[in-house]
Amino acid sequence: MKLLTFLAGVSAVAALNNGVARTPPMGWLSWERFRCNIDCKHDPSNCISENLYMRMADIIAAEGYKEAGYQYVCIDDCWLSKSRDSNGRLQPDPDRFPHGMKALADYVHSKGLKLGIYEDVGAETCARYPGSRGHYQTDAQTFAEWGIDLLKFDACNINPEDFDEGYRQMGFYLNQTGRPILYSCEWAIGEIMHRRQANYTAILEVCNTCRNTVDITDQWKSVLNKVNNYAKDSGNFSKIAGPGGWNDPDELVIGDFSLSPDQERTQMALWSMWAAPLIMSVDLRNMRPESKSLLQNKGVIAVNQDPLGIPGTVRLTMRKVSVWTRPILPKGSLAVVVFNSQSGGAPLNVSVPVHRLINGNALDYLITDTFTGSKLGKLTYHQDLTVRVNPTGVVMVTMTPA
Ligand SMILES: *[C@@H]1O[C@H](CO)[C@@H](O)[C@H](O)[C@H]1NC(C)=O
Ligand SMILES: *[C@@H]1O[C@H](CO)[C@@H](O)[C@H](O)[C@H]1NC(C)=O
Ligand SMILES: *[C@@H]1O[C@H](CO)[C@@H](O)[C@H](O)[C@H]1NC(C)=O
Ligand SMILES: *[C@@H]1O[C@H](CO)[C@@H](O)[C@H](O)[C@H]1NC(C)=O
Repeated sequence: MKLLTFLAGVSAVAALNNGVARTPPMGWLSWERFRCNIDCKHDPSNCISENLYMRMADIIAAEGYKEAGYQYVCIDDCWLSKSRDSNGRLQPDPDRFPHGMKALADYVHSKGLKLGIYEDVGAETCARYPGSRGHYQTDAQTFAEWGIDLLKFDACNINPEDFDEGYRQMGFYLNQTGRPILYSCEWAIGEIMHRRQANYTAILEVCNTCRNTVDITDQWKSVLNKVNNYAKDSGNFSKIAGPGGWNDPDELVIGDFSLSPDQERTQMALWSMWAAPLIMSVDLRNMRPESKSLLQNKGVIAVNQDPLGIPGTVRLTMRKVSVWTRPILPKGSLAVVVFNSQSGGAPLNVSVPVHRLINGNALDYLITDTFTGSKLGKLTYHQDLTVRVNPTGVVMVTMTPA
């Protein structure tokens, strides 16, 4: 008993062991940018259709995103026909997915990528298409037969008392298919929306990702809301994530319409510090070059994908500034983000004593700018890390023992 308690204390992670999501998943999802646009008659190149996912797969494979690590091309709500087929199986809308899901999966796989799909634990999806409740086994089998690699499982149109059973059953039936399918759950946010306490430990025993905040929108205040949620870490969810199971603050809105260049860097940096899924939701056909290169930034992605899989947390707060740290490899190294939440005005000079960032020994550290890879020099344990941070922006460095 004593030993078990001790083990639970040091290795908080009892994550799902289905072989996938050993590092946070990276990919693209249609929801934030393309929503439930089903009007292919008037808006053929932006509607939810096989054409949209094929084009995104083409670009991910051709324009450096795949090499940067983006892998999952994900469908969200509104792909379905309004009724099941005569055998009770789900079917895609026949006009918008005329070749069927198996053909779309084959196409995405031919690009060396994976296909994600969307369903709901309840009787209907959030947009009122057929849900999986009562059909978990059939739907899991259908997805596996189509060659699906990820399931986003939403939490609409169900009694919250039934979340536990519904998410567990779908997890069980996905496992029974024998196909490794990344299981992306909206279970925690479902609980939170019903003013119930989410049990993050229980959720990450069943799911590979745990959405724990409301849907992101393409607005700075929405990004900031997630930063505040992750700073609060209510329920200590950051302690529970690790290889196989990750907390999910929802999609990246980098490259969309609202964020400034500094705010885009803030989103990329903090999502990476949190070991969050990096799921873009943007029209990859129309990208500003700076947003594209930020989404493909090697240094920041390496922090996100660090094999230790330990989420970063707030280490210090100083008025409008928060300092986040994340242990990374090589051993003893840290990723550090200094975030200035103040909007407007001038950049802030911030000095952080190195010893306040470190738990261990009094070492010297080599400092590297994470975004650019430039070496910024060496700091001793007794010196300060001094950085200049733009309003609503970040400075991100990695510190490696010298
Ligand atoms: C099913 O679950 C078992 C036990 O956790 C695991 O070893 C196996 O990899 C899982 N298989 C799939 C396909 O998820
Ligand atoms: C949360 O889930 C874990 C793992 O399933 C369980 O051991 C624990 O008792 C649950 N906590 C609460 C408060 O229900
Ligand atoms: C979270 O952790 C803090 C400090 O370790 C502890 O005091 C608190 O009870 C924990 N809260 C939950 C909900 O586990
Ligand atoms: C902030 O630091 C810069 C150098 O990085 C310096 O030029 C500037 O004077 C400093 N501003 C303040 C208010 O200390």
